[in-house]
Amino acid sequence: MEGGVLVLIRFAEFYRGRGLCIERGEAQYVWDCSGRRYLDLHTGFGAAFLGHRNPYVVAELERQLERIMVVHTVFDTPARRHMLEELDGLLPDGLTRIFLLNSGAEAVELALKVAVAATGRGKLVALSRAFHGRTLGALSLTWGPKYRKGLEHILYPRVERLRPEDVSAVDKVIDEETAAVFVEPVIGEGGVIPLSNEFLRSLWSRCREVGALLVVDEIQSGFGRTGVLWAHSRAGVRPDILVAGKAIGGGFPVSLVAFTEEVHGRLWEGLHGSTYGGNPLACSAVAGAARAVKEDDVVEKAARMGRVFLELLADLLDGYRVVRDIRGVGLMIGVELRKPPGRVIKCMQERGVLALKAGATVVRLLPPYLVTEEDAEEAVKVMKECIGSLQ
Ligand SMILES: Cc1ncc(COP(=O)(O)O)c(C=O)c1O
Repeated sequence: MEGGVLVLIRFAEFYRGRGLCIERGEAQYVWDCSGRRYLDLHTGFGAAFLGHRNPYVVAELERQLERIMVVHTVFDTPARRHMLEELDGLLPDGLTRIFLLNSGAEAVELALKVAVAATGRGKLVALSRAFHGRTLGALSLTWGPKYRKGLEHILYPRVERLRPEDVSAVDKVIDEETAAVFVEPVIGEGGVIPLSNEFLRSLWSRCREVGALLVVDEIQSGFGRTGVLWAHSRAGVRPDILVAGKAIGGGFPVSLVAFTEEVHGRLWEGLHGSTYGGNPLACSAVAGAARAVKEDDVVEKAARMGRVFLELLADLLDGYRVVRDIRGVGLMIGVELRKPPGRVIKCMQERGVLALKAGATVVRLLPPYLVTEEDAEEAVKVMKECIGSLQ
């Protein structure tokens, strides 16, 4: 029985539930079904980086809902024109062709197709610890055995792995048969691991040498979260393809693939398509999110609050033996423990702060850019109490 009604249909349990019913959200907070407030540093795996119900996004969506919800991309729309205008100046230099899809994994699928179609090659390179999604093409690039279990035999076999930071293996693994190298500039699911500029540059220069495409997966790290608009830009590399999702729609389900005119020139009509991809509501959400980034100092705030979090967290390393490492860029932060992080995350939730796991041992914080110093102090206090109770 739920709410006095006999419910026969139940949701499939692919995720272990958190035992919490969330009813609404505003900015950096969510409220559970009994009205209790939580500080949200989970943000739906980072999707609500712009805060819940960001006013720029809500205004655009409301305006569009009044007009039309369904127009296929074969038709032009004011919503799409408006989005393209708003995105102007926000994408990496040279990536002037975009296509919208609905989820991160779908965007990775398109990037994969584009890379193979544009180069005529069939080998792909991805990193160990990489996470690129769970549809079959994307899953072939995803590293984690727990995601691939039972499916290995139907995954794409020509994916070779590079270890993060293994500059010495770059020339050997990336060769003339490589269509593309996929990389998260800050590895997210795999444990919050920022890659060095040196490593990212070595990937880029080897790709140029052998004619492979560099694909940066900024689904989690992108759109300001790391204190720059795109995390790869710190290394000064220029990808051929960018994949974005999560924050770009302010939480609305939309993803984006951007590529160069040169790559676009090698593709053909019919190579890809999607019923909902580029739908007018998605366009409006992206337009609103882009406006928020331009008008509300999102990038600067993320950079500043990232520093605040890292400073507040720093003494955890001295005071608590169970803490192995603290790392992060902007508002993508990981506290690595010497134990699985489940108990700490549960304890934090009980005390009103939502966090999430990364890799096998990391407590991950993905705060929205609107998080305040008081929020950060509260979150770190709660985290310390919870880690302390583990000792
Ligand atoms: C870097 C990265 N790539 C791809 C994905 C897959 O995105 P989605 O869950 O929207 O399919 C994620 C999701 O967490 C991600 O973090």
